[in-house]
Amino acid sequence: MKKRIILLGGAGFIGHNLALQLKKNYDVFVVDSLQVNNIGEHSLKDSKNQNLYINLLNQRLDLLKLNNIPIQIVDARDYTLLTSFFNSIKPHIVIHLAAVAHAKKANKDPYSTIDHSMRTLENVLDIIRGRSIHLIYFSSSMVYGNFKKKKVTELDHCDPLGIYGTLKFSGEKLVQAYEQVFKSTYTIIRPSALYGPRCVSGRVGQVFIEKALKKQNLEIEGDGNDALDFTYIDDLIHGIELSIDNPKAINQIFNITYGNAAKIKVLADLVTSYFPRIKVSFKKRDVLMPERGTLSILKAKKELGYMPQFNLAKGMHEYISWYKSLNL
Ligand SMILES: NC(=O)c1ccc[n+]([C@@H]2O[C@H](COP(=O)([O-])OP(=O)(O)OC[C@H]3O[C@@H](n4cnc5c(N)ncnc54)[C@H](O)[C@@H]3O)[C@@H](O)[C@H]2O)c1
Repeated sequence: MKKRIILLGGAGFIGHNLALQLKKNYDVFVVDSLQVNNIGEHSLKDSKNQNLYINLLNQRLDLLKLNNIPIQIVDARDYTLLTSFFNSIKPHIVIHLAAVAHAKKANKDPYSTIDHSMRTLENVLDIIRGRSIHLIYFSSSMVYGNFKKKKVTELDHCDPLGIYGTLKFSGEKLVQAYEQVFKSTYTIIRPSALYGPRCVSGRVGQVFIEKALKKQNLEIEGDGNDALDFTYIDDLIHGIELSIDNPKAINQIFNITYGNAAKIKVLADLVTSYFPRIKVSFKKRDVLMPERGTLSILKAKKELGYMPQFNLAKGMHEYISWYKSLNL
């Protein structure tokens, strides 16, 4: 019998990609309200790319349906509804992805960020306590704050900046507290700067390609020397798969990224190499974005056998080819 996995926030960018891959070996159940950075989000309706994003979000739902992955449309802040869903599925594993997954949005709207990120996490922790349900919690590279060395490891001090990183770090602490008090087992994942098909989150790679497709110039925040550990979605999914049901991942934290940061101006150069007429300009940097860089993935390589496959050039080639295939 296959193990049952619930993905909370499973219609999101990471969630639906993860669900499609995990379905090969597990019984997968998606829970999502579709209200945050998804079809029901009001701000989506103000976006200039509204039609494109609605289309991509519907593509996610179609893919889940095509792969016989059931979606329960539930707001995970609702403890009673969530409890009855868990009781009906009796999962072996739950993956918590639900959040306002964007640092700038989090700083603009702390209340709803705390609500969707922490209330949903607290509900899950409380529902699974005392049962043998393993929790995989999605944290972030933002827990480190400004990177103080070339490569940060899971043992380095966390000093987050702003609402998003602080909540992610609080989430980690809460997950660990439930392990201390109730012996609930967990794996904490710290991803960074993901990109790939059907993302509507407005991260830099997506914004650059969509601008270039519309023949608009690219705008870099800062001087372009900020570096991020850009990670293609398939690499992250591969890393998560390796951590599931792996005794070496129990009660552990893993950085799961490409493991080699690239400067934003390198990303811009890559995009303009596909769209040669597009120019690049610079604007003021957001001071609340920490200065990041490379996350060490040595632990994931050693303990899980993780081996990312997509350097930025290869990942962006995939991503741009996919966008071009949409014939926008
Ligand atoms: N994408 C990245 O680059 C990145 C990097 C680091 C960490 N993360 C973390 O990974 C997780 C997933 O990120 P993503 O990029 O897929 O985000 P996303 O915004 O695409 O997906 C989040 C999903 O959670 C759902 N959700 C939010 N609140 C909910 C609630 N109350 N009830 C039910 N569903 C709810 C939303 O509807 C959405 O579909 C987040 O926790 C995020 O912080 C993402």
